[in-house]
Amino acid sequence: MSNFAAVANPAVVKRFAVIGHPVAHSLSPGIHAAFGKQTGIALSYTAIDAAPEHFDALLAEFAAEGGLGANITLPHKTRAATICTTLSERARRAGAVNTLIRTPTGWEGDNTDGVGLVRDLTERHGLDLRQRRTLLIGAGGAARGVAPALLDAGIGDLFIVNRTPERADALADALAQPGRVHPRYLRDIGSLGTFDLIVNATSAARADGLPALPMALANPRTAAVDLSYGEVAIPFLAWARAAGAHDRIDGLGMLVEQAAESFQRWHHVRPETDAVFEELREHRAELVTAD
Ligand code: ATR
Repeated sequence: MSNFAAVANPAVVKRFAVIGHPVAHSLSPGIHAAFGKQTGIALSYTAIDAAPEHFDALLAEFAAEGGLGANITLPHKTRAATICTTLSERARRAGAVNTLIRTPTGWEGDNTDGVGLVRDLTERHGLDLRQRRTLLIGAGGAARGVAPALLDAGIGDLFIVNRTPERADALADALAQPGRVHPRYLRDIGSLGTFDLIVNATSAARADGLPALPMALANPRTAAVDLSYGEVAIPFLAWARAAGAHDRIDGLGMLVEQAAESFQRWHHVRPETDAVFEELREHRAELVTAD
């Protein structure tokens, strides 16, 4: 636990990072720099590329160097949940961590993805999520992060499909609302009816492509949301357009909102997000990876 001695010198700029693989194109350093400037907080926020086998060692090194907090991204969110000494209630429910907060005895793990998504959908995009019949595609770390917050936001029934059905079952079990949460086989997707909210939480577009999605999943009221942004969000959002979905939303707003929530956990100040979001949106054409 020597990595977690109190950080002695308050004159040192507070150190934060995002840890992922790949991470070079992460927007988080720029977002946190903008929040720091806006709130007058001096901080350093870097990107640390950690292959899975090096994650634990690089995180320990970061702690030993005085790191006060980190964002955790693909593919480490579930691993990070296992190395924390404490977990927030929402991180525990998600079984996935995107925010580490230094404590004297180790890392506290939190998950700000879900609240970030809900805030983006309801406040930025003005959607009323209540009673929306919802389809969640994917059951990995990203899906785990957002599912509890969607349920808390009052969606209707939640159907979960995943390439590996056991992971959909495990996520449904963890959510512990059997009357409301229904794991289904991806191959049966054509018989599930129509949905008012469809969330793509797979990393399929980054790999060998999106699973085939029937047009009949969408209706004229549907909001289709991809948790990624930039090029990897394009196939799903193009499908949503072709299927006639009313709203087509990528994960850029969620990224900014989850960052604001993490920033608040670390600095106890809530940054304003609209200007940062607009600035990033303008440069969207340059964005190539999700965070
Ligand atoms: P993340 O943190 O992005 O969720 P993850 O935990 O590796 O990363 O999960 C990736 C998700 O994308 C999973 O739901 C995965 O399905 P499996 O559980 O079957 O692996 C899904 N996924 C990745 N590539 C896919 C593909 N080509 N087709 C369908 N689903 C895919």
